[in-house]
Amino acid sequence: MIAAGLKLGLEMFVFTPQDVDYRQHRIHALFYNTETKTWSRKWTKFPHMIFDRCRIQRSRRFEQLKRFRSVYGHLTFLNRPLRNKWTVYRTLQKDERFRPHLPATRFYESMRDVNEMLKKYPLLYLKPINGTGGRGILRIERKSDGTLLIQGRDRNRRIIRPQRISYTVLHARLSTWNLKEQKYLVQQGIHLKLPNGRVHDYRMLVQKNGAGEWEMTGCAGRVGSRGSITSNLHGGGKAVPMRTLLLKWIGDEALADSVQQQAKELGEEIAAYLEKSYNELCELALDLAIDRQGRIWLLEVNPKPAREVFAKAGEKETYRKAIIRPLEYALWVYQENRNRKRKRRQQSNKSAFLVDDGNDSTEADANVNPER
Ligand SMILES: Nc1ncnc2c1ncn2[C@@H]1O[C@H](COP(=O)(O)OP(=O)(O)O)[C@@H](O)[C@H]1O
Ligand SMILES: [Mg+2]
Repeated sequence: MIAAGLKLGLEMFVFTPQDVDYRQHRIHALFYNTETKTWSRKWTKFPHMIFDRCRIQRSRRFEQLKRFRSVYGHLTFLNRPLRNKWTVYRTLQKDERFRPHLPATRFYESMRDVNEMLKKYPLLYLKPINGTGGRGILRIERKSDGTLLIQGRDRNRRIIRPQRISYTVLHARLSTWNLKEQKYLVQQGIHLKLPNGRVHDYRMLVQKNGAGEWEMTGCAGRVGSRGSITSNLHGGGKAVPMRTLLLKWIGDEALADSVQQQAKELGEEIAAYLEKSYNELCELALDLAIDRQGRIWLLEVNPKPAREVFAKAGEKETYRKAIIRPLEYALWVYQENRNRKRKRRQQSNKSAFLVDDGNDSTEADANVNPER
């Protein structure tokens, strides 16, 4: 991304909150030299804008990050933190455009939530509200003989082998899982097993473009590794082109066309809506599931996505776009900021002129807006 930025005339560097000198308002940042392919540290002033790629983590570094975000909250950030899975779900649930695409979801408070959801849905996913990469996810499937098939991944992403258990031991089985302390969701599961037994879904990247508008950059399929109930690439999933996977799954060209078009519109609408509901965003990745009937389900929204899925699916051009778009958007933001400043200056010059001119000051006052 830095190499691509340099070509566009952007100077870029990398830093963490730990590299910030709060007193002298400067940063001990890492600069990349594309010729020697080496990194070196240099003191630098603050940048015109910040692309925040930090994730939630349980550590002192996260406390440093929160401090940085609050002390320097007035700076131009291309993106602000998104909320946890539960808050994002509730926000999307408010808009009827999205409701048909949201699997039924509850915040886990007690076993009652699991029991009630299991009565309604034969498949459930239990996921930590702040999880990433398929960690700590449990899948519970109600079988026709009344037993439950339970499998998943622990918090270190190790596969938990499938076990058949009865209802009566479910409680005991889940009590070791700390669902309350870690904060979990109970979600209707979508059947996504391919004929070979592997699960699959789609990763869609939606980004702001060089005109400041939301645009889908690409969407790729992901197929989970053997025995996995998640498709995440870090958990051994494989990336494949969307079209191939979708056609195999729903088998109909016209339906596939319409699903792809719908998914694109949905992704762009969700991004615009979430940005309006919260704060600045410049890209989002959506984890989408498509069921056998071609209905699109939103599994998760990721604010700090990796782009590798496109390279791994063999979509080089999409991968290139995925890297360049945030940079083009940054240039647009920079230009917008400058235009705004220029306008403000022009306005205050005008009002100063009006005051100097000995004019009735009411008109001049109207031009001076201390808020701007
Ligand atoms: N409701 C669901 N139905 C079917 N599969 C799901 C569901 N929720 C999650 N998954 C599977 O688990 C994976 C990880 O879940 P996700 O919600 O994206 O959490 P994470 O933040 O860990 O990636 C998904 O990519 C998908 O393969
Ligand atoms: Mg995910």
